[in-house]
Amino acid sequence: MFRIDRNLTADELDKALRTDVAEGLTARPKQLPPKWFYDERGSALFEDITRLPEYYPTRAERSILELRADEIADAADAAALIELGSGAGVKTRLLLDAMRRHGGLTRFVPVDVSGDFLASSARPVADDYPGLDVHAVVGDFEHHLGLLPVSEGGRQLLAVLGSTIGNQEPGPRAAFLRDIHDVLHPGDRLLLGADLVKDPDRLVAAYDDARGVTAAFNRNVLSVINTRLGGDFDPEAFDHLAVWNADREWIEMRLRARSAQQVRVADLDLEVDFAEGEEMRTEVSAKFRRQGLSAELDGAGFDLTHWWTDTAGDFALTLATAR
Ligand code: SAH
Ligand code: AVI
Repeated sequence: MFRIDRNLTADELDKALRTDVAEGLTARPKQLPPKWFYDERGSALFEDITRLPEYYPTRAERSILELRADEIADAADAAALIELGSGAGVKTRLLLDAMRRHGGLTRFVPVDVSGDFLASSARPVADDYPGLDVHAVVGDFEHHLGLLPVSEGGRQLLAVLGSTIGNQEPGPRAAFLRDIHDVLHPGDRLLLGADLVKDPDRLVAAYDDARGVTAAFNRNVLSVINTRLGGDFDPEAFDHLAVWNADREWIEMRLRARSAQQVRVADLDLEVDFAEGEEMRTEVSAKFRRQGLSAELDGAGFDLTHWWTDTAGDFALTLATAR
């Protein structure tokens, strides 16, 4: 059974994009939120990133799931899986398989802002898991968690994989974890994927790959502004940067103007000047430590019950229970 709810109509999406771009391009320093990377092309580029030799997080998380999915399913003992930022959902199938083996799984709710990509990845799940109620939701998990089709009967497992949680700064991340807690019932479970602090050289390489796929992903946000808001950015006039911020323990992706230039965004009636070398932040990707993440979960009303890592200790999957 498959259905898709669109909490974000094309109009609402455009409105949110307009607000973020107008605010971000007039802020000092300029910045853009990472959710706008993900149009159809951006989602496909992210999938390419997950296969890069330098980008270890997806492989590391998959290796944990391959080993631990049954343990997770047994510990969660859930009737519904809700996944925020589900993307292509390749790793999700390892979880769904294990939850099926455990028994009692009736419902899967994948949530993503990238609507067409979500539809094309979630529909086949309904075909491949007969009897499973697949209820996809196109929405912004920072704003629309209250609209999720939360189950009243049976325990729920809510998953945020891939270290997507790291793309929010600590303040919004704390609010996001509390919002997640609010949509769950006591005893429901949270499965969180978290990339861990490690050698900065490896981190920078993961976000500045030799083939330039991450650079194309980063510049794609400019193409999204061009297509959706009538912008005239020349994406190639910006260099891709990945910088390790040792104080905040996060990677920053930035775009740096190669020369002084003016950009017009017609739909916003906005002209924006870039100085030569001016940098605009497009993403943070926080890296975690056990103690810090455990405290963040505790602060949002969750008790950490399980912490699994891959053999190299690069990535952690954590299971927590809502109090
Ligand atoms: N979970 C997958 C995909 C991670 S990429 C994995 O582990 O490989 C991050 C995903 O989150 C993308 O599919 C993107 O479209 C989605 N996303 C990013 N910001 C979002 C937001 N604010 N609301 C909903 N989805 C979002
Ligand atoms: C989706 N998110 C967790 C990715 C990350 O690693 O922060 C997005 C990404 N940005 C550059 N490469 C991948």
